[in-house]
Amino acid sequence: MRGFLRPYWLALSVSAALALVDTMLGLARPWPMQLAVDNAIGGRPLTGWARSLHGLPPAGIAVVAALGAVALVGLSGITGYLTSFLSGAAAERIGADLRARVYERLLALSPRFHDRNRSGDLVTRLTGDVSRVQDALVVWLVSAVPDVLTLIGLLVVLLAIDPGMTGVALVAVPPLAVLAALRRRQIKRAQREARARQGDLAARVAESLRHVRAVQAFAQQDAENRRFRRDNTGVVRTSLRALDLEARYGPAADMLLAAGGGLVLWLGVLRVTSGRMTVGVLLVVLSYLASLYGPVRSLTRLASVLARGAASRERLSEVLTSDEYVADAPDAVPAPDEPRTLTVQALTFGYDPRHPVLHEVSLQVCRGEMVCLVGATGVGKSTLLSLLLRLYDPDAGTIALDGSGIRGLTTASLRERIALVPQDPWILDGTVADNIAFGRPNANRDEILDAARTALVHPFVSAMPAGYDTVVGEGGVLLSGGQRRRVALARALLRGSPVLLLDEPTSGLDAESEQAVMDAIEQAAAGRMTLVVSHRLRVAALADRVLVMTDGRITEAGAPAELTARGGTFADWCRLQRVELPSARQPVSR
Ligand SMILES: Nc1ncnc2c1ncn2[C@@H]1O[C@H](COP(=O)(O)OP(=O)(O)OP(=O)(O)O)[C@@H](O)[C@H]1O
Ligand SMILES: [Mg+2]
Repeated sequence: MRGFLRPYWLALSVSAALALVDTMLGLARPWPMQLAVDNAIGGRPLTGWARSLHGLPPAGIAVVAALGAVALVGLSGITGYLTSFLSGAAAERIGADLRARVYERLLALSPRFHDRNRSGDLVTRLTGDVSRVQDALVVWLVSAVPDVLTLIGLLVVLLAIDPGMTGVALVAVPPLAVLAALRRRQIKRAQREARARQGDLAARVAESLRHVRAVQAFAQQDAENRRFRRDNTGVVRTSLRALDLEARYGPAADMLLAAGGGLVLWLGVLRVTSGRMTVGVLLVVLSYLASLYGPVRSLTRLASVLARGAASRERLSEVLTSDEYVADAPDAVPAPDEPRTLTVQALTFGYDPRHPVLHEVSLQVCRGEMVCLVGATGVGKSTLLSLLLRLYDPDAGTIALDGSGIRGLTTASLRERIALVPQDPWILDGTVADNIAFGRPNANRDEILDAARTALVHPFVSAMPAGYDTVVGEGGVLLSGGQRRRVALARALLRGSPVLLLDEPTSGLDAESEQAVMDAIEQAAAGRMTLVVSHRLRVAALADRVLVMTDGRITEAGAPAELTARGGTFADWCRLQRVELPSARQPVSR
């Protein structure tokens, strides 16, 4: 947290200084009463600065006392306002910085982290937990600092007036401190639990709302509602436990304080009756004690806000201190601008290293070449593409662009050289044009239209009322599956990267569109390195080389016609899909 506070040290120090002034003004508040009681009513001689009031009648002294009391309140109103505003504003900005940092980190964290954490819970961290840390900060600055200062000030003044009585009043402090420390730990634990439950609830809601069609299609509303209610009750239960701990703390603190106050009252009466103290001074002491109550109570309330903040801070540090991201090597260099080869050597990888998905995979794609990766579902084709993008680091083996291992390249430059059409094309909430431009944000309209025409986006978009400015909804819900795929393809084509990774680019397309999209891909592949994953042997037939993956290993490799002639898995599949292959493919001139 210290790093987040540093940029605002000036605002924070000014508000702390103002808090100090406010405290002193607060400490001066009871003294006009002493003037009124001892000098105006009791007729005692005026001493100290009050000597300047000499000659005033009692009513005049009372007026001065009253005006003084009003002035003190007025001044402390101004300092109070400035303190609240300055520290509140600083806390808002610190909260914004914290949110930005958490968001930045969330975007950088590897898919492995996101596989484990649910997005709904992460959103609650970003919003709810940051607010709680911010609240704790405000409370700390606006209340805790002045309260502690006030307490110290009160004790100093009380000690000056009557050390004996102060000692008695302080009897309550050690048990209070012990109580506070114990409760803080308990409250923090309870709050952590409550926040985790709230995160679970948010994750569940985010998930079912995102898949609300599935919930409705399977008539699962009632079951979902029941599950939600159960989790919701869980949230209430954990929050109540935390609340109970917080609520118990106040009365216990009050009792301790009241005991101290009772002792002082008794002692004070003895002093006044034995003539060792004036009634005015006793009133001041008692009023100090009463005002001791305020800060101590508010500090006890604070303890729970701070404990909440501490629980939320832990949840944020889990994100901020996670090192689960693909970091650039210190001596990383940018990837070559126009790489000619992409080489994969003996790549072994498992999401769980004990169960490898890919075993010693080796392959090479050269510029101008289209390589098709085929294989049964779940053999690890998409996984291989993720590794090429360095979304994960392999357990063994290397991936190299023009011979330089991608671990030695900056991740940003590596990913700039690659355009991906993912198996599940992600469409963002925005217009069709925005979605295509996501591939290259600085592209102009003509370039976007070009890519859209090549990827066959144009025909269906021109039928839409707002054309390219049609908003497609969250996840592209307003588009059909095939349309989404074509938008994703246009996005990748617009990117214009030397490496093109296509994961099932034609699934969900009718035969005619599939042919058209394949033509588009063939065109785009010219001068690039293209690796296309497909279950369609029609697509494979177009490739220069086919790699067959079985159980995470490349088991067959060669030109499509060669593989069919040789007989094997690929030849069997061809027979199953009844694809007639040209006996020798005309090389495309590139
Ligand atoms: N994020 C993940 N965490 C853990 N395991 C995963 C993850 N993604 C995939 N797997 C597992 O890795 C294996 C390979 O998955 P992958 O998605 O690479 O298969 P695929 O060949 O692309 O299949 P398909 O043809 O169905 O798309 C599967 O057994 C899958 O269960
Ligand atoms: Mg896949």
